[in-house]
Amino acid sequence: MATTIPDFDKYERIFIGTLTWNMALPQFVVSFLDSYDFTGKTIIPFNTHGGYGVGSSFRQISANTKGANVLEGCTVKGGEETNGLMRIVKDKNREKVSREIDTWLETVN
Ligand SMILES: Cc1cc2nc3c(=O)[nH]c(=O)nc-3n(C[C@H](O)[C@H](O)[C@H](O)COP(=O)(O)O)c2cc1C
Repeated sequence: MATTIPDFDKYERIFIGTLTWNMALPQFVVSFLDSYDFTGKTIIPFNTHGGYGVGSSFRQISANTKGANVLEGCTVKGGEETNGLMRIVKDKNREKVSREIDTWLETVN
């Protein structure tokens, strides 16, 4: 049975984090977006990818959250599953990613 978010209506700003799968949103994220009404909410998207980028993920988030204000997303490189490198946002890389996220957060205010 799908998990539901209690009191979803009371959230005004929602960060949506996703990986890139096949240059798109994983289907479970699409299912999540389809399960709720985002009208009037502010969406703040962020993404990790394995080296090829965000693909259509942010466009899909906009298309699947009709009536929401979708801010500019942040995308950073994470693990490369094809090379067996998973969860590599740590140590020095974590500091680099952290700076990228700080810059992005200032951009979206
Ligand atoms: C099934 C699958 C498909 C993926 N497709 C892509 C892709 O099309 N482009 C890309 O850059 N990364 C792709 N990746 C890599 C993931 O986006 C990457 O591993 C993840 O964002 C990094 O998360 P991590 O740092 O927590 O390991 C794919 C990973 C999996 C498991």
